[in-house]
Amino acid sequence: MIPVVDVDIRELEMKAVQDVVKSKYLVEGPNARAFEEKFAKFSGAKFASTIVNGTCALHLAMVALDIGPNDEVITTPYTFVASSNTILFSGAIPVFADIDRETYNLDLEKIEEKITEKTKAIMPVHIFGNPCDMKAIMDIAEDRNLIVIEDCAQGHGAKIDDTHVGNFGSVGCFSFYGTKNLVGGEGGAVITNDEDLFEKMISIKNHGRSPAGGYAHYYVGFNYRMTDMTAAIMNVQMDRAKEILSKRHYTGDKYRKALSELEDIDIQKVLPGHQHSDYIMAPLIINEKFSQNEVIEYLKSKNVGSRSIYSKLSYQQPCYQDLSSWHLSKVIEYPDYSKVKCSTAEYVAQNHFEIPMVTSLTDESINYIIDVLGEFFK
Ligand SMILES: Cc1ncc(COP(=O)(O)O)c(C=O)c1O
Repeated sequence: MIPVVDVDIRELEMKAVQDVVKSKYLVEGPNARAFEEKFAKFSGAKFASTIVNGTCALHLAMVALDIGPNDEVITTPYTFVASSNTILFSGAIPVFADIDRETYNLDLEKIEEKITEKTKAIMPVHIFGNPCDMKAIMDIAEDRNLIVIEDCAQGHGAKIDDTHVGNFGSVGCFSFYGTKNLVGGEGGAVITNDEDLFEKMISIKNHGRSPAGGYAHYYVGFNYRMTDMTAAIMNVQMDRAKEILSKRHYTGDKYRKALSELEDIDIQKVLPGHQHSDYIMAPLIINEKFSQNEVIEYLKSKNVGSRSIYSKLSYQQPCYQDLSSWHLSKVIEYPDYSKVKCSTAEYVAQNHFEIPMVTSLTDESINYIIDVLGEFFK
């Protein structure tokens, strides 16, 4: 089976981990500092900090930006549930706006419709690595005095006119979870161009300490540090980022060219001047003659890995449909998420299918996948 997930880890990463273990400096240390320098350079941000994972990166950003109880944060329901969960963690209220059918990202008009006087922030998610229309989102945010936190968990290498995603809002939050373009097993990072905010985040992620360490705590902080084993893997991944990302872009471009010929499916639209990270390729079935399940099963029968991702939207998850088990529901009044409806997101959730984008794909396997889809949709 050609896999949808295949982790690109080599001898170099293994050696880097062994070196850390041998050094006995297992906690966040020299490798984390080296990685931060590389990641800041890679993303073009002034400041970057390692974080234990992408979920904590988002939560940290929320807390550092004082987004808290009863503030509303507008986000997409078509994402991994962690995006909106981090809004809940900080006591704020996720407000789901519908997405655009072509890009799968937040629909600008729907964002505007959801703004109230309680809205404090917008959390755009560059879904599958497709950059949101950040210039337009920043215009809305600046007009209404709203904070923007970018969920870049899937966006390594995604750019808008050469600016890496994560540089438009106040903070960009990344994940290096084991399936991502650049992997650390678990792992995350925040980037920002605001020095004060950066100082606050690196303190809060380390129990509210000053950079000198010790046992004075200036903020009620968390332990969101990364181990130096993870940072060592990330260091090697950064050195290999160009190689890894160009392989993904090569595959993405081949798919976009060939699959746009098929009338029954649409490929996620990349806006002009935008560079997709090519993390996930998930075409959309636009002919009701075909079902998501049918396509996925057909691909699998031909040894092509396929699946749906987020076929349940965040507000459709059982924990949102009934929030009573969430401890803050005792003190915060949440909307009834069982009444929320984002019809475009529901359509995309039920009609997309993922195909392999892994770096181990050969030209032969890419062509084979294209042919198999061509046969199915002929
Ligand atoms: C869009 C999105 N946001 C947030 C996260 C959370 O990141 P992590 O798994 O590193 O906590 C993920 C993924 O894993 C994600 O895909």
